[in-house]
Amino acid sequence: MKLLVTGGLGFIGSNFITKILDEKSDFEVINVDAQLHGADKRNLSGIENNENYEFVNGNITNKRLMEELISKCDAVVNFAAESFVDRSINDANPFLVSNIRGTFTILDIITKQKKRMIQISTDEVFGSLPKGSADEQTKFNPSSPYAATKAAAELLINSFSITHNSDVVITRCTNNYGPRQFPEKLIPKTIILAKQERSIPIYGNGKNLRDWIFVDEHCDAVYEILINGKAGQAYNISANNEISNVQIVHKILEIMGKSNDLIEFVEDRPGHDQRYSLDSSKIKNEFGWSTKINFGEGIRKTIEWYEKNFSYYESISNEILKSTPWKN
Ligand SMILES: NC(=O)c1ccc[n+]([C@@H]2O[C@H](COP(=O)([O-])OP(=O)(O)OC[C@H]3O[C@@H](n4cnc5c(N)ncnc54)[C@H](O)[C@@H]3O)[C@@H](O)[C@H]2O)c1
Repeated sequence: MKLLVTGGLGFIGSNFITKILDEKSDFEVINVDAQLHGADKRNLSGIENNENYEFVNGNITNKRLMEELISKCDAVVNFAAESFVDRSINDANPFLVSNIRGTFTILDIITKQKKRMIQISTDEVFGSLPKGSADEQTKFNPSSPYAATKAAAELLINSFSITHNSDVVITRCTNNYGPRQFPEKLIPKTIILAKQERSIPIYGNGKNLRDWIFVDEHCDAVYEILINGKAGQAYNISANNEISNVQIVHKILEIMGKSNDLIEFVEDRPGHDQRYSLDSSKIKNEFGWSTKINFGEGIRKTIEWYEKNFSYYESISNEILKSTPWKN
């Protein structure tokens, strides 16, 4: 199978491409990435010479380029997105461009060329859930401009599935962690600041709950859905691993042998969702997919990876690590 992966220089896309090329010898991958926020070429430097891999520096909103690339492939996995909630508070426009216009560009072309598309969406489309878990039918209620653009993309896809019978499957995953995540996000930021013995900002009281999944297990689920997912359907992906932000930081500090005194509680993010939670019984029942890595094991692997690659991040700018990034 020849795959077009978008946004493959980012966190999840780079883990997905590495995994596919390592584990599936009958796959070829073209990675199109515009090298925007979150991209890091070093994420895929290990496979640059792999004969089954090609990198194209391009934007998913570029219709002509995407027509050409999609015509060479059997399916598209769309990871490309502006992904940082905090930055969407400051300026939502790039989120509208990549996450809505970009998704529409791909959707329109795969429909005309009769190709398959996997859209990587998020649990954030459901907004904050005081209790219970969202299943695939739960109503959207996004709180951030980021989540609203992801929900808008899903609505467009749904309309194409109904109107044009487009071969599109949506995945909605919970918070990922693991190697190669951009250091502005909670877990890598905490590891880097702890290593440098600098103060670690936590928003509000730190009790916000997220359901965390190791990135490799999300990639397994995406592969399963690429091969077996039914057109027009959405699949939730979660590890049933609800942990608060402050518990995560405590765990990282404990493993790294650092003091909890590094923690600094800072002004909360506007519109900060209290809790996300997904019911992922559909993918488990239909495909027998399940997670095997518990949070303790996954976070150890993640810390080891950042320790090993620390020279990448040593000189990361304060702009990326600052405590209230929505205030520019
Ligand atoms: N990180 C998470 O916890 C999480 C959870 C659920 C869903 N998701 C979704 O997974 C996808 C990947 O997330 P991530 O954390 O790897 O993001 P990331 O920010 O690490 O990477 C995004 C990549 O997309 C590229 N990109 C953005 N706009 C583009 C455009 N217009 N054209 C071409 N390339 C473009 C960027 O250059 C970057 O390399 C996103 O769609 C996100 O909504 C992420």
